[in-house]
Amino acid sequence: MRTFGLIGYPLGHSFSQKYFTEKFAQEQITDARYALFPLENIYDFVHLWKQEPTLQGLNVTIPYKQAIIPFLDEIDPIAQRIGAVNVIQKMPNGWLKGFNSDYDGFLESLRFKVWAKPQINALILGTGGSSKSVQAALEDLAIPFQLVSRDPQAPQVLSYAELTPTLLHKFHWIINTTPVGMYPEVENMPPIPYEGLTRDHFLYDLIYNPAETAFLKKGRLLGAQIKNGLEMLHLQADCAWNIWNTPAPK
Ligand SMILES: NC(=O)c1ccc[n+]([C@@H]2O[C@H](COP(=O)([O-])OP(=O)(O)OC[C@H]3O[C@@H](n4cnc5c(N)ncnc54)[C@H](OP(=O)(O)O)[C@@H]3O)[C@@H](O)[C@H]2O)c1
Repeated sequence: MRTFGLIGYPLGHSFSQKYFTEKFAQEQITDARYALFPLENIYDFVHLWKQEPTLQGLNVTIPYKQAIIPFLDEIDPIAQRIGAVNVIQKMPNGWLKGFNSDYDGFLESLRFKVWAKPQINALILGTGGSSKSVQAALEDLAIPFQLVSRDPQAPQVLSYAELTPTLLHKFHWIINTTPVGMYPEVENMPPIPYEGLTRDHFLYDLIYNPAETAFLKKGRLLGAQIKNGLEMLHLQADCAWNIWNTPAPK
């Protein structure tokens, strides 16, 4: 039996556990199971590998995506650049290697968009973990972006108060990487001047629950194209599965 699972704390409802359990059943993968491993303390990570000798790979969620890095033997260059790991693979030599599949999921979810519209400027709302994956993906797509934060720590980062309807016209894509509007606080939305949105805008919300956040609904009603985080979520899970099933180079 091969064991895969999720570490984080606390772990409530888990998309990953449902996704992989259903995948194993549908694809008749009978030698694998997916378990939840809530770790109250990151130091319990070391004991986990001793307690679970069949463990082959892990997903990592809040609050350990950055804290896990010193516990790993090797980091994939993209995860290193982003500074966060959400997938761990146990290598044949026992080494633990960290990856960032949010980057791959986000990048892959844009495959048709980028092809269709080469001249793009993006506004990224939020500067947390998923924002860093989005920033790396946009850099690699050569799409210029502007960050917006509640508390700008650098001169080139805008505050929400600095956003005006005219300024929004300069950005074709607006990407929400904040948890604002996530279930159960579904009435909330990032404080941007929505009156500046037009049918030329594309709004991407990394949130997948609810399927249409208040942010996306506002955009849709003003004629903008919209996309939620569900495809990215599935793609990052598929990417994790590929990592766990790809033999390490000799
Ligand atoms: N679809 C997917 O596959 C996928 C993958 C990863 C994450 N997500 C979703 O993305 C969202 C963010 O996740 P994360 O891991 O990036 O979280 P995170 O590391 O906590 O970062 C969230 C950022 O949002 C901003 N923020 C937080 N609370 C806010 C508030 N009340 N008002 C305005 N801004 C606020 C903060 O940036 P500032 O301090 O700069 O304002 C914070 O750094 C969650 O909803 C998560 O479910 C989806």
